[in-house]
Amino acid sequence: VNVLALIGCPVAHSKSPRMFNTAFQDTQLPYVYLAHHVEPHQLEMAVNGLKTLGYEGFNVTIPYKETMMNLVDELDESAQVIGAINTVVHREGKWIGYNTDGAGYLRSLRESIAIDLNHCKVVMIGAGGAARAVGYALCTHGIQHLTIVNRTVKKANELANQLASRGQTNFLALADAEEVIAQADLIINTTSVGMHPHTKQSPIPIDWIGAHHIVSDLVYNPLHTALLQGAEKKGAKIHTGDGMLLYQAAIAWELWTSRPAPIPVMKKALEQANS
Ligand code: ATR
Repeated sequence: VNVLALIGCPVAHSKSPRMFNTAFQDTQLPYVYLAHHVEPHQLEMAVNGLKTLGYEGFNVTIPYKETMMNLVDELDESAQVIGAINTVVHREGKWIGYNTDGAGYLRSLRESIAIDLNHCKVVMIGAGGAARAVGYALCTHGIQHLTIVNRTVKKANELANQLASRGQTNFLALADAEEVIAQADLIINTTSVGMHPHTKQSPIPIDWIGAHHIVSDLVYNPLHTALLQGAEKKGAKIHTGDGMLLYQAAIAWELWTSRPAPIPVMKKALEQANS
């Protein structure tokens, strides 16, 4: 049997083992997925230990996504640009680090909403780690019009510069973004604003949203954030944050097994773990 794992601190709350193991059983693939709680001072030892024990790969969660960049043998472009690793694959004796968050987000968006990103005006709110993953995915998939909007404009500028070689990217301070948001087709919130327990907060005034918008929120606790509730009232289409969780895992599955992920089974297992 091939062994996979999640490493992080903590990991007990994670729904990944249940989701992956249910899907491995369903497809009868010979894999098992474990969760390992690793203390910071033992991280390097743990990563070497997994290699010694012949693990096929592992997922990385908080707080090790950035540190893991220094502990793998090779970096995929996704991890290099995003600056963080969530999936590691064992290939020919080497650990290769990937980041499937951005691609997972994009696949989730496309599954949920018919959208021609090439002709879509996108405003992305936020310029942190999650924004880097989403921005990278958008730019590598041919988006033509991306504006990064952030409370701290300097960080939006930095991210726009970083992505500039991959696509046309503008930036703006959040406070000045009403006009550009009005003209956008797709608004993506990558900030944590609206996350439990601050569920009444929205990253932008709901008044800025209209019926022509698609509004997407990465926050998944709660699923229907104040932003998405407001957007729905305005007649906009919405896209919830749970899809990213599912599809980043599906892409990891495909990297490890070279087979298509059984999305419906994984989705159901995730929903059951949430209930
Ligand atoms: P993550 O890795 O989850 O993206 P991060 O790297 O700390 O977290 O980035 C958090 C993002 O949320 C940033 O874009 C931050 O804006 P600043 O760069 O101005 O700090 C944004 N953010 C957090 N709280 C915010 C708030 N109350 N209003 C607006 N933006 C906020």
